[in-house]
Amino acid sequence: MTKKNKVNKAWVNRHVTDHYVHMAQKDGYRSRAAYKLLELDEEYHLFRNAKVVVDLGCAPGSWSQVASQKVGKLGLVIGLDLLPILPINNLNFIEGDFTETATLNQLIEMLKGNKADLVISDLAPNLSGVKGVDQARISYLVELVLDFSINYLKTGGNAVIKVFHGGDFDNLVKTARSTFEQVLAKKPNASRSESSEIYLLCRNKL
Ligand SMILES: C[S@@+](CC[C@H](N)C(=O)[O-])C[C@H]1O[C@@H](n2cnc3c(N)ncnc32)[C@H](O)[C@@H]1O
Repeated sequence: MTKKNKVNKAWVNRHVTDHYVHMAQKDGYRSRAAYKLLELDEEYHLFRNAKVVVDLGCAPGSWSQVASQKVGKLGLVIGLDLLPILPINNLNFIEGDFTETATLNQLIEMLKGNKADLVISDLAPNLSGVKGVDQARISYLVELVLDFSINYLKTGGNAVIKVFHGGDFDNLVKTARSTFEQVLAKKPNASRSESSEIYLLCRNKL
């Protein structure tokens, strides 16, 4: 068996035995990632009073499913991804690259002059395997999300942003702290321990 096949087999094994994968199948979520957001919401009430939510890097859509359930029909949920997704009730979806101005303009247009109460970003770039290149890509996306939050999040609004340990982590936290009253680094139980992902919980935009 080649090394790649061994890794794939290990992934499949882990996937079929994963508790959160089973829960997602049972609860009708498109991915186990839903439980990361649900867990953060349970502790920090992210969706309390949230009517306008922007979900960046939303495919296949489990965070958008959660957001659309939480805000209900009267809310506005906008999801954006490079990849197409199957429709979700109450979700306004943009297929595009968040790093491109044309996509950002589409997003701004969809906000119809509103600012968001909550920005959730699970954006993760395709990795090249070259550490320096990947860290730069990740940092760039997080910087863009912070920039978007500075301009399009209401005062008092919250953001959840996926970052990765290493690289520019300290600088990104520093930037977030200059924009939000409180910034916490959280690793939900549903996030795999072997993944270096961590979520910045940015509360109360100044
Ligand atoms: C971990 S997945 C998101 C999972 C999602 N939160 C869910 O619950 O289903 C990360 C997503 O980020 C998207 N992505 C990465 N770079 C992007 C970019 N520049 N613009 C838009 N989407 C991007 C990927 O296509 C991928 O679908």
